[in-house]
Amino acid sequence: MTDTTILENLKQKALGELQAVESAEALEVWRVTYLGKKSELTAVLRGLGTLPVEERKAVGALANVVREELETSLDARETAVSDAHMGVAGDIDITLPGRTWLAGRMHPVTRVVNEITDIFSSLGFSIVEGPEIELDRYNFDALNIPKEHPARDTMQTFWVDDGAEKDDRHVLLRTHTSPMQVRFMEKYKEPPFRIIVPGRVYRYEATDASHLPMFHQVEGLMVDKDVSFADLKGALYEFARRFFGPNRKVRFRCDFFPFVEPGVEMSIECASCLGAGCRVCGNSGWLEILGAGMVHPNVLKGVGIDPEIYTGFAFGIGVERLPMLRYGVDDIRLFYSNDLRFLRQF
Ligand code: DAH
Repeated sequence: MTDTTILENLKQKALGELQAVESAEALEVWRVTYLGKKSELTAVLRGLGTLPVEERKAVGALANVVREELETSLDARETAVSDAHMGVAGDIDITLPGRTWLAGRMHPVTRVVNEITDIFSSLGFSIVEGPEIELDRYNFDALNIPKEHPARDTMQTFWVDDGAEKDDRHVLLRTHTSPMQVRFMEKYKEPPFRIIVPGRVYRYEATDASHLPMFHQVEGLMVDKDVSFADLKGALYEFARRFFGPNRKVRFRCDFFPFVEPGVEMSIECASCLGAGCRVCGNSGWLEILGAGMVHPNVLKGVGIDPEIYTGFAFGIGVERLPMLRYGVDDIRLFYSNDLRFLRQF
């Protein structure tokens, strides 16, 4: 075999093997084998002196070409191997900054619902839930709101198509959580009762900064012997104190709800102006957060409870209002527009 053939074979073999090399250590072994002092290539170069002049020129030139080629290929392979280790090869570049894992968190409204139910649980109330698709009997009639009662008009209702004529429908999306008062008393019959009912409610209303077709309420009901208006005030003061802190003033005023007598609304001092009056509170200095009252005797009678023996109080808290007041959110729609920049602040 001539030196030229040896060199050609050597080159083929070396380059072939190089492609299979995957690690820095294997690269070094390859380098020693094909370019090292004891390599065939070095042997050929060393032996050049013994060759006739013409052949020496040709073999010498070829040997140098082969060496250069092996060296260049080695460099290239070295880069490829180290890049692969770094993850630069292909589509992944691990030198780029990592992607942060966005931890999930509870929706601000869910957190407030939980906070409210925690406060009332600690006051001895049990948490129950009721259906969002309701019968008009529970949503209205049993709450002392018969068919032609004007209070029905104040709660724009989504009626469910139950096959009946338009004015004869009985299925609806509950407009408040109060129907659960009736369902609960009807089922458990014997007071004492102390329940809290969180949930979604629906009203067929135009959407604006303070109205949505769906929002949340937390209903409360306590029925026992000798439950008085003082108990109602005590429970609701305690709730306001724990939720808003001890320094926010609370106010009760008369209000009308067909299922309570007397009825009240409870407001808290506006956080923006601390009672002075501002845009947020419509210059009144106060913001209404719930309706409440002593359970109407008709409601108790309707579920077979004697109002001469038992009395009770009830209340309904508008949930979205609370985080709005606490955090100064001025548009209720923000809670449900799924803008993470907004939601992540809570
Ligand atoms: N259900 C009433 C509403 O949605 C709120 C309410 C008022 C609930 C007085 C009550 C209550 O339990 O006693 O407007």
